[in-house]
Amino acid sequence: MNKNKFYITTPIYYPSDKLHIGNTYTTVVSDAIARYKRMRGFDVMFLTGTDEHGEKLQQIAEKKGLKPIEYIDGIVASIKDLWSLMNISYDRFIRTTDDYHIESVQKIFKQLYDQGDIYLGSYEGLYCTPCEAFWTETQAVGGKCPDCGREVHPAKEEAYFFKMSKYADQLLKYIEEHPDFIEPESRRNEMVNNFLKPGLQDLCISRTSFDWGIPVPINEKHVIYVWIDALSNYITALGYQNGKYNDFDDFWPADVHVIGKDILRFHTIYWPIMLMALGLPLPKKVYGHGWLLIDGGKMSKSKGNVVDPAILSKYFGVDAIRYYLLSEISMGQDGNYTNELFINRINSDLANDLGNLLSRTTSMIIKYFGGAVPAPEGKTDFDGILEQFALDTVKKVEKEMDSYYVSNAVSTMMSLVSRANKYIDETAPWVLAKDEAKKGELASVMYHLYECLRFAAIMLKPIMPESSSKMALQLGISEAELSWDNLCFTDKYVGTAVTKGEALFPRIDAEKTIAEITAEAQAKLAPARKPLVHKEQVTIDAFEKLEIRAVKVLECEPVPKSDKLLKFIVDDGEGRRQIVSGIAKYYKPEELIGKTLAAIVNLMPVKLRGVESCGMLLSAESGDTVKVIMLDDSVEAGGEIR
Ligand code: MSP
Repeated sequence: MNKNKFYITTPIYYPSDKLHIGNTYTTVVSDAIARYKRMRGFDVMFLTGTDEHGEKLQQIAEKKGLKPIEYIDGIVASIKDLWSLMNISYDRFIRTTDDYHIESVQKIFKQLYDQGDIYLGSYEGLYCTPCEAFWTETQAVGGKCPDCGREVHPAKEEAYFFKMSKYADQLLKYIEEHPDFIEPESRRNEMVNNFLKPGLQDLCISRTSFDWGIPVPINEKHVIYVWIDALSNYITALGYQNGKYNDFDDFWPADVHVIGKDILRFHTIYWPIMLMALGLPLPKKVYGHGWLLIDGGKMSKSKGNVVDPAILSKYFGVDAIRYYLLSEISMGQDGNYTNELFINRINSDLANDLGNLLSRTTSMIIKYFGGAVPAPEGKTDFDGILEQFALDTVKKVEKEMDSYYVSNAVSTMMSLVSRANKYIDETAPWVLAKDEAKKGELASVMYHLYECLRFAAIMLKPIMPESSSKMALQLGISEAELSWDNLCFTDKYVGTAVTKGEALFPRIDAEKTIAEITAEAQAKLAPARKPLVHKEQVTIDAFEKLEIRAVKVLECEPVPKSDKLLKFIVDDGEGRRQIVSGIAKYYKPEELIGKTLAAIVNLMPVKLRGVESCGMLLSAESGDTVKVIMLDDSVEAGGEIR
């Protein structure tokens, strides 16, 4: 067993340029745990990455006229920027498009196939031909595709399947014998009762309808469908079945996979079964956290309620976000976000409690002792209680962090800050300062306050690394001294010079700031508008010269050898008229037949690709596309447009 190693993973993220504050939770909480473990002397491997295959990404890229990898490279760069903004200290970043990962996944597939755990079968369902997608009866309500609304029909597709059922009993036994494997307990029960006990279906693990995926090594018609590809990242990133890394023996099994509750089934059923089939040990824990909700509901781009971490960090600093996330979502529960809740929490916990404790303490040490931490020469009735409280806090924080109950750990850390503030009220140093005979007691109060702040700076380091360093600076200690081993009362810091720096967390004016961040978020969400290029002003006479009339489309067909032009025969109120228009990219001919359009009919005829055009259809540019101006069909052909 690897005594001093610690392996923690986040899920690999789908590349998206719209990651919001909720998405960042998994990674921030994993980061806090990784930082804590490093402080406790572990050799930590903290893995994150991106899950880059699948039809959706292929389609988005195609729409943008890019190859999937060109599109994804850009998004992955922005995800890495986000992690650097959030101060995420990952050790390794895996992309499922990395060659070494592809090589391993193919070997894993081949092994499972060779040993009979994967077989070729067929996937049956209701198929939507234009969308190339299978749906179940419940999804395809009324026999219509839920995506495009067109008719679906029963179909079969050849696909590879993983024999999940073969390992179900073994997994059930494992979960029962290892009650710590899935946390929280409520989710463990859900997995066992809702999925495992009713019986597992074999899992479809390949597709032939798109090709943006890892090819099935024994059959190039198929690509491996996401979960086998994605879940394997946790071992391929250590070098399993590839030569890129060599850490598998050191770090596997993982100490913890941190994931959101939505992907628990994949991590506690499919993944363990894959590992069992490969003959590998299972991760020690799968930790399924709750979600950050907005006003109690889901955060989503379509609802327009996503909270952008980049904007928040600009106003409040990244540690305020980390603090909020890490204290708001507690084990087994969802958390809530509103700007009001966020700002109130920052003002009360960070500006009032923590910030004030630091600024009051440094001010008093400067005022009463010339800025040098005094030796505790006297003693007050409250010193012993405070010391015991601080030492107990450390033990409790260790227990909570070791079981990954990060929000409990944060509130325990902050309880020391509150206790120290109470100690100021109890000892009233400003009264002691008036009496020369109480100088020793005053020194003891300052010493104890300083020590509690030092404890807080050390314990808060995994939660708010930047603020912890700022505290260290004001307390006159080096970064290296923010070490877990230094969590004891000592006279080592007596004589240290403190300084009064700027406020750690300035108080926020909630109303004003909310207005500002809301305006900024709206501006960022609004699509960038192109400046309009204006023409010179004209009089009505110039307009009167144009003869614009309603026309009805009788016939429409592409102009041969042109991918831009459509040839129309329209009824212009007097008879048939031929018009050629450059809108072939935007319309299929049959879409326009019978429509009432607007045309300038007194333009001089011209020949376009050899075809005569007697007039011009009016249309409007709209983003990347063009729409013809359609009139109400009750307008008669020939009706003049003025
Ligand atoms: N690609 C899969 C994971 C494969 S792991 C082998 C995936 N990616 S994801 O980008 O959709 O999600 C990444 C993480 O963000 C998940 O843990 C998910 O639960 C989490 N969250 C997404 N929205 C969230 C909130 N609103 N709140 C907290 N976590 C949220 O799933």
